[in-house]
Amino acid sequence: MHLYRGRAKLSCHYSNHEPMPKITYTEHDGTVRTVEAEVGATVMETAIRNSVPGIVAECGGACSCATCHVHVDEAWSEKVGPPSPMEEDMLDFAFDVRPTSRLSCQIKVTDELDGLVVHTPAQQG
Ligand code: FES
Repeated sequence: MHLYRGRAKLSCHYSNHEPMPKITYTEHDGTVRTVEAEVGATVMETAIRNSVPGIVAECGGACSCATCHVHVDEAWSEKVGPPSPMEEDMLDFAFDVRPTSRLSCQIKVTDELDGLVVHTPAQQG
């Protein structure tokens, strides 16, 4: 009998089966994906690891490409917080920037962000 399958098996190394924070990515076309995230990883890394479309991350998380742009859900915007000045400068290069825009490589996953919802823009760059 198989007790663990797929992603559940991968999560076993995380603190003895403690629940992992979940992040929901909503695509421009309405497709919704909820994935488990490792605390300390970024929202961008979590998307890439889970093959979430809509996040390109050309620079690999160095805050120098703006192709990991997301719109943080209004309900989460305050908890996630505002972009740093450097991130704000990079956001000038992003498409469809809004008041809740963030670069997902600059958002670290914490237990407090369990349930976070972000929306990917129609295009990156
Ligand atoms: Fe390049 Fe976020 S991955 S700015």
